[in-house]
Amino acid sequence: MSTLNFGLIGCGGITLQNHLPGLALCGDVRVHGICDANPETLERARQQTGATVVTTDYREIVRREDIHAVIIATPNVTHPPIALEAVAHGKHVMCEKPLALNRADADRMAAAAAAAGVRHMTAFTYRFVPAMRYLHHLVKSGDLGRPYHYRSCRLQDWGTRNLGWRQQRSMAGTGELGDMLSHRIDFAHHLVGPMRRLVANVKNLTPIRGGQPNDTDDWVAILSEFDCGASGVLESSKLASGRNESWRSLDYVEINGSEASFEFSTGRWNELLAGRLGGSGLQPLSVPSEFWTWPGSMRDPAVGDPLVAFRYDQAIEFVNAIREQRECAITFRDGARAQAVMDAAVDSASTRKWVDLAD
Ligand SMILES: NC(=O)c1ccc[n+]([C@@H]2O[C@H](COP(=O)([O-])OP(=O)(O)OC[C@H]3O[C@@H](n4cnc5c(N)ncnc54)[C@H](O)[C@@H]3O)[C@@H](O)[C@H]2O)c1
Repeated sequence: MSTLNFGLIGCGGITLQNHLPGLALCGDVRVHGICDANPETLERARQQTGATVVTTDYREIVRREDIHAVIIATPNVTHPPIALEAVAHGKHVMCEKPLALNRADADRMAAAAAAAGVRHMTAFTYRFVPAMRYLHHLVKSGDLGRPYHYRSCRLQDWGTRNLGWRQQRSMAGTGELGDMLSHRIDFAHHLVGPMRRLVANVKNLTPIRGGQPNDTDDWVAILSEFDCGASGVLESSKLASGRNESWRSLDYVEINGSEASFEFSTGRWNELLAGRLGGSGLQPLSVPSEFWTWPGSMRDPAVGDPLVAFRYDQAIEFVNAIREQRECAITFRDGARAQAVMDAAVDSASTRKWVDLAD
């Protein structure tokens, strides 16, 4: 297999913003098939990619022998059936987050992909921010000392506009929890390890969005304990009026340990704030240039908006894992582990009790 033929399932926002430009940076990769339920979206993607297999039915993509890998970027409810069908046909799969609407389905996806021996990846895109990679390096190399506290805060202003499928629980599973907090749950796992138990609350303060019913959460907060003994506080909101949207708004992670504290923000791609025990406060710490791109990425970090371009390393990692016949850096197991936390948060918010996380 020299040329890797890709099938893109779901050709909406994130496929155009992240997946297509990422694949364009990979050598010997061709977008051979595209699928979207919306014929207009499909036609726009056909013109953009020149794909020859063009269909509204994902089965026509995953059953083809001349398609080797697929990227699933459809509404959340469709991820499990598409991914299961794709791995059953031996395709390598990158699936958008959240992997599923519940842990059982996410576990099923992880087990099926492992049994099929294909590469599987969850699109936790913010793991590719250079500053996050450097923070992970500092934590794992002992600079933090013993982890005490993990703290994340994601505040955006989405107002009361219509969010389409994202405001329907039957399509999205959850609102802010799966949409935004899932990434920060994954950060927590990545930096501090598994959570042991949690208590959470969710709020729907906008039951009507853009004139249509919204039955998902706009705000979520989790208080957690990790297996290592550290504590976690995670908050995420779509209703932080005036904060703006996307990466221009607050996306803050702070981790405090016995030796040091570090602060990460997606908006500062090549800088952390750092302070040592007994020091006078947090000071800027530049991210060394070897962290500016993902290992194996040929992307020039000087090209494009650095707050956008790091996202392209995600597709590069997926392609490299396929070529090198190794596990992806972020697997379906990571997606399932985040899903277990999301399920526990929903459970806790409805029962108003702490919830233990099983292994
Ligand atoms: N990793 C990230 O940072 C990130 C960012 C944004 C979105 N996402 C995730 O990506 C996924 C898609 O989000 P989006 O913003 O691109 O949504 P979108 O609504 O812009 O695009 C989804 C597309 O899927 C199509 N679709 C719906 N059902 C389908 C089906 N059964 N078969 C084929 N196509 C179908 C729709 O017509 C639409 O074009 C979601 O799971 C979302 O959570 C991840």
